[in-house]
Amino acid sequence: MIILGIETSCDETALALIETRQTDGVFECRVLASLIHSQADLHSPYGGVFPTLAKREHEKHLEPLLDKLLASQPTKPRIDAIAVTEGPGLEPALWTGIVFAEKLGAEWKVPIIPVNHMEGHIVGSLIESDTPGGAWQKLKDLPLPSLALLISGGHTELVRIDSLFHYAIIGATKDDAVGEAFDKVARLLGLPYPGGPHISKLADEARKDGLASSVKLPRPMIHSKDLHFSFSGLKTAVLYAVRDAEKAGIFDDVFKKSLAREFEDAIVETLDTKLRSAIEETGAQSLIIGGGVSANRMLREQFTIIATEFGIPLYMPSPHISGDNALMIALAGALNGTPSNKLRAHGTKKLGS
Ligand code: KG4
Ligand code: ZN
Repeated sequence: MIILGIETSCDETALALIETRQTDGVFECRVLASLIHSQADLHSPYGGVFPTLAKREHEKHLEPLLDKLLASQPTKPRIDAIAVTEGPGLEPALWTGIVFAEKLGAEWKVPIIPVNHMEGHIVGSLIESDTPGGAWQKLKDLPLPSLALLISGGHTELVRIDSLFHYAIIGATKDDAVGEAFDKVARLLGLPYPGGPHISKLADEARKDGLASSVKLPRPMIHSKDLHFSFSGLKTAVLYAVRDAEKAGIFDDVFKKSLAREFEDAIVETLDTKLRSAIEETGAQSLIIGGGVSANRMLREQFTIIATEFGIPLYMPSPHISGDNALMIALAGALNGTPSNKLRAHGTKKLGS
């Protein structure tokens, strides 16, 4: 079966083509193609994603991206189904993907499978190789129960997975998502959107230069008994630190680097504490990390330490598919596909709701 994946929930227009089969009852897949067109540079001046601009750009790029995707194949593929992100995400952006999927579905007479974006981030970590034209592969073995930490621009969730696609959200942010905190703090430090990689780079420079921050930022909710998060207070603490530094005339590169380091350390420590508690509470036998923030080097190192200490396997997406992509959408659709002819964009829809 060949599945076309479509992802337009935020500022990445992405298409992918995968082939799937069952061998002795075991799911196997191979990646035929995966293309991502990022709009990040266009949104950069706004310090975040501008929904109507995202919609316009998706509309502009979907058709040419499909032509490119199909042209990359040695022969014209016979597509059996289309998997499209229905949420969560920006509603105007989601609709462009859904409308495109419906148009192609009618033209090719193939079913459309709605996919939850966050489920995509979970299964995206279970693929061995995302290289197009690669060999047939099985999904990584997932000892259960598993625990997923989803960290993106819109979500911060701890998910206990009892079996693939059967799960419970056991922790979530009460306000800003962790990626959103990176993006807002980047804006306060005068760095472009998306802020995560820029903060990370400054923080690394501070470590290299031995710069420590004179400001101590909070580690939000690390002493709370639950598994929830809150990042808006951390962002506000950065805002006050920046204001004070401006007043004192010390808001320079050295200050920015050291504050970026302190902010990244606060995020690492907070996620570390909650993740350890969640592993203990669920008795997790494996750990999945998903979402764009999983590209963060310091976090990846810390997650590796945690998994080693608990003696459980850790699955993270390779950094170039840690952000939004359509490969994970095609895969989630293939694994959990229920075709629908009543698609709706779910702007605020959370994982599984
Ligand atoms: O999953 P994703 O691509 O889109 C959403 O579904 O939201 O995540 C995007 C988020 C942005 O907030 C971006 O700043 C963050 O991932 N991000 C990072 C890094 N790379 C991307 N955050 C921290 N460190 C990074 N290296
Ligand atoms: Zn995402």
